[in-house]
Amino acid sequence: MKKVTIALDGFSSTGKSTVAKRLARELGYVYVDTGAMYRAVTLYALRKGYIGETEKNVKALIDDLPQLKLSFQVNFDSNQSEIHLNGENVEGEIRNLRVSNKVSKIAAIQEVRQKLVEQQQKMGLEKGIVMDGRDIGTVVFPEAELKVFMTASPEHRAQRRYKELLERGEDITYEAVLKNVQERDYIDSNREISPLRKAEDAIEFDNSNLSLEEQFQAIYKLALEKI
Ligand code: C5P
Repeated sequence: MKKVTIALDGFSSTGKSTVAKRLARELGYVYVDTGAMYRAVTLYALRKGYIGETEKNVKALIDDLPQLKLSFQVNFDSNQSEIHLNGENVEGEIRNLRVSNKVSKIAAIQEVRQKLVEQQQKMGLEKGIVMDGRDIGTVVFPEAELKVFMTASPEHRAQRRYKELLERGEDITYEAVLKNVQERDYIDSNREISPLRKAEDAIEFDNSNLSLEEQFQAIYKLALEKI
């Protein structure tokens, strides 16, 4: 079977990562969650107090970028790949609303994108990869053999995310999650560098009314046609 590159892009909380993880498992491919990389950089900036997008803070973050090391390591208990920031496992900290509320601003910084895109492209050199994000089909792997662009209504996505966060014990309201989803959609779609948009050759996939199983089966079928 030939190895290909699969790019899954779309709005926040469309369930991309759930489908991408399973797809990678079934195909024996590597899965890369690029959102986790932008989130880890945001956590770093928050910890350093570089938040509040003043020129000084943005410059301080840019100056630190060369020392910032991101890597993915498999947790053998859960069998999931987890992100490490300078050697520290930060997987548990990057999904909270504090990081979610700032990540789109950090992801709009050109130097941050340049660094992360380079690393993503290296990870995909040998193909056999499923990568999810916002600019995978447009910027990171414009030559990907399969590109899927996932959408769902903001309310469906916020509901999904709200449930996930509640299950993880976070103290939040549905309204706060919906607001965050809408704000990230806006910033991600309107930023100057690599705005979120569907690649011309991507297959659009609205999953508002599909079960996880239905989504997976539809995308898996598309993948099988390419390999
Ligand atoms: O995928 P996730 O929702 O975890 O991504 C968090 C944020 O990271 C997005 O809202 C977006 O601002 C940014 N992002 C990006 N490009 C990617 C992946 C994520 O700008 N490829």
